[in-house]
Amino acid sequence: MNILRSKNLFARANRLLRAMRLEFAKPDDAWAQSILPPLEFAVYASMDARDREHAVRVTQYLQKIKPDASPILLRAALLHDCGKQLRPYKWRERVWAGLQPMPKLEFDSALFVTQKRSPTALELRALHPQIGALLIRSAGGDPRVAQIVERHHQPFDDADAAWIHAVDEIE
Ligand SMILES: [Fe+2]
Ligand SMILES: [Fe+2]
Repeated sequence: MNILRSKNLFARANRLLRAMRLEFAKPDDAWAQSILPPLEFAVYASMDARDREHAVRVTQYLQKIKPDASPILLRAALLHDCGKQLRPYKWRERVWAGLQPMPKLEFDSALFVTQKRSPTALELRALHPQIGALLIRSAGGDPRVAQIVERHHQPFDDADAAWIHAVDEIE
């Protein structure tokens, strides 16, 4: 457990270092494009390069430890944080929001999608799974991919969402 925890802390520090400079991000977009159908790739391509790099790392690690991962699961892994694209990437703000207790917020999709209101940093942290699912559905992406994305922070009995949650924690 301690090993897992220290690995998690190391991963977070490593991710923070990469997050500080946009030019450090080298997402393998060509690989992502080989996995995602065009409508879903358009959602992926709108993400910040640092979030795309994180998405590719999570997905490739998932594929390594679960070689029989379904195409739907890999697509959901690539898009799991796509909801974060509704707010410009600021690494200090991400760190700050990550240190706060998780706020209990009701999700009102109209606020962010219909009215195009940008979520606050805390709203983004708490609600990006639901925002992402909505973006995928609006773009014409697969409903099951959207559902897994929606559940990736609280998978409950959804085994696919649980895989992404687990890998996301240690990436
Ligand atoms: Fe997430
Ligand atoms: Fe993530």
